[in-house]
Amino acid sequence: NGSARPDASPLFTVQSPNVVYTDDEIKSRYAYQTTEITRTADNKLVATPKAIDYHFKVDRKVGKVGMMLVGWGGNNGSTVTAGIIANRRGLSWETREGKQNANYYGSIVMSSTVKLGTDAQTGEEINIPFRDLLPMVHPNDLVVGGWDISSLDLAASMDRAQVLEPSLKAMVRKEMAEMKPLPSIYYPDFIAANQEDRADNVIEGTKASWAHVEHIQKDIRDFKAKNGLDKVIVMWTANTERYADLVPGVNDTAENLINSIKSGHEEVSPSTVFAVACILENAPFINGSPQNTFVPGALQLAEQRGAFIGGDDFKSGQTKMKSALVDFLINAGIKLTSIASYNHLGNNDGKNLSSQKQFRSKEISKSNVVDDMVAANHLLYAKDEHPDHTVVIKYMPAVGDNKRALDEYYAEIFMGGHQTISLFNICEDSLLASPLIIDLVVLAEMMTRVSWKADSESAEYKGFHSVLSVLSYMLKAPLTPPGTPVVNALGKQRSALINIFRACVGLQPESEMTLEHKLF
Ligand code: NAI
Repeated sequence: NGSARPDASPLFTVQSPNVVYTDDEIKSRYAYQTTEITRTADNKLVATPKAIDYHFKVDRKVGKVGMMLVGWGGNNGSTVTAGIIANRRGLSWETREGKQNANYYGSIVMSSTVKLGTDAQTGEEINIPFRDLLPMVHPNDLVVGGWDISSLDLAASMDRAQVLEPSLKAMVRKEMAEMKPLPSIYYPDFIAANQEDRADNVIEGTKASWAHVEHIQKDIRDFKAKNGLDKVIVMWTANTERYADLVPGVNDTAENLINSIKSGHEEVSPSTVFAVACILENAPFINGSPQNTFVPGALQLAEQRGAFIGGDDFKSGQTKMKSALVDFLINAGIKLTSIASYNHLGNNDGKNLSSQKQFRSKEISKSNVVDDMVAANHLLYAKDEHPDHTVVIKYMPAVGDNKRALDEYYAEIFMGGHQTISLFNICEDSLLASPLIIDLVVLAEMMTRVSWKADSESAEYKGFHSVLSVLSYMLKAPLTPPGTPVVNALGKQRSALINIFRACVGLQPESEMTLEHKLF
């Protein structure tokens, strides 16, 4: 798991007339197989196999990549930074359980494998690291920076977070102490009042202004220049904000949003100002918190500019379990009738969420996560029928970052019987979120180097849609292009990601049929 492969040669190449490798590019022609359904006059379904040919092009030159975090001095920001430094330096440190080596556990890119195919000789599955599917940036090579409204350097932030072992902190302290968050924009109305005492590193002005947009743009440009970067990915891992009201004429179109920022409208949040700055700077921007940063005007601006955006809200603990378990239950033909989710946590995120408006953002993002799975099974659920679903979050300072999530899943089984599943999930929140930050950055960067075109002579290569729904696996309330379905089911999200990357090198999805083991 340690450092990047010393030479850039890929772990595998694809041998196919449809795939061409050059020094700079991988080009593939791919037949996308789908099934089209039509209805007859007497309402019977007709399924027609369809194949659409696409061409994909992958730029093999990764370049030097920067990751800028908004909320760099928070629990996630300081933890992911220390984690990257520890991995980069291949550190091991003493814990009460013995020696611990740096790793990237919890990152699907770095620590999960993907079935590539079947060994021609032995018939065994060949599994390769996810990160070897396409040429991706190694997290050890990311240059990390960012903003925080709190002026503490990263070493002090790491102490404040109370997440990492003292022995590890001692090893990274010197490097972390030299890292200082850039001043940020702070509009007190958007985060809990209890955050005010840490806001000592702020850019002048308490509501949106165009000067703020330009300030953030300049920060990104300066960071890029100072570190000789080819590109920067920006991630919001700052406090959860309250929802911004959606007001016609204010944030409904790109033009209105820009004018609202210029006129200092009170309903424009700091996260939306960051999003606008990143879109204009063409730096992919990902929102790791639940608020509605991407108001319709921000979405439209991203589309107009072809800039990548992704969100919302890291899917780290409770919801990740939910999007796996509910998928399993409903696909098993079991009728889930209620989900009761309680959390208590004692970190600064919990403190911020103890304020009603900020909690409401989280409640919304945690609540819709089973809708697609329920809607897909009309045998169990009538139209518009849903399981009851309650989410409670309480601030309990004593447990610190060791968040507790208690879930009860109540379901109806055969002939009126009942099944109750109780889960008690305890984990350091920031140690779950940090690898997601890494995955989001690595995958968003990857998507900047993939282009596609239709199968015609005249077609030109273009990028994916600016809303990166391919990042859904890491996100609780996945943002999708307007009018397209949201997929929350964890298994489907992973398959989509892997199969799109396979398509980029001309490989069909792994079907799991393994006919070679069944038809002899
Ligand atoms: P934290 O409260 O420790 O860190 C947030 C940081 O953002 C603080 O240092 C704060 O000073 C800073 N901040 C607030 N407003 C800012 C602004 N306008 N500009 C720059 N910095 C600003 O929280 P933590 O635990 O790191 O979580 C960060 C976010 O990620 C929260 O919104 C949380 O809800 C979200 N999240 C975290 C998950 C986890 O497992 N840790 C899971 C899902 C979402």
